[in-house]
Amino acid sequence: MRIMFGIGFALLLAGAAAAQPLVPPSYTQAQAARGEQAYMSNCASCHGDKLDNGGGDGAPNLVGPAFSQGWGAKPLSELYDYTSANMPASSPASLSPQVYADIVAFLLSKNGVTAGTAELPPDDDRLKSMSGPH
Ligand code: HEC
Repeated sequence: MRIMFGIGFALLLAGAAAAQPLVPPSYTQAQAARGEQAYMSNCASCHGDKLDNGGGDGAPNLVGPAFSQGWGAKPLSELYDYTSANMPASSPASLSPQVYADIVAFLLSKNGVTAGTAELPPDDDRLKSMSGPH
């Protein structure tokens, strides 16, 4: 009986490892504050200083349901990778991985994700296990 219980438990662990549910992202308030500064210098000219495009010149909103529904359903690595590779649109991939992670932390803070005690890592593999903003 004890052995059967042990086998069952091992199968349960194996199942959990295979399914890999996304965990909520973690970032700190200090990191989001750094990200806000980097956002204002590098992104606000197109996306607006309230992330709502400031009235519209073709750059999409980075807050609100359309943004969080689109990116929230995917691993956070997708938002990080997209932003790192394509933004700022005027000068793609021109910032450091750390600055992109800080900016993503700022975007999370503006999309209803609560700050925690661990910084968002500039690490694609770890971001793959985290959920997007939703
Ligand atoms: C020169 C103008 C410009 C700048 C500066 C800029 N963007 Fe963009 N951004 C755009 C445009 C235009 C799009 C839409 C691109 C498309 O649909 O192919 C976009 C799309 C995005 C998206 C995808 C939004 C969505 O839901 O599809 C994200 C995220 C984003 N930008 C983040 C940033 C960040 C972060 C920065 C600063 C590091 C930045 N952008 C700087 C013009 C800009």
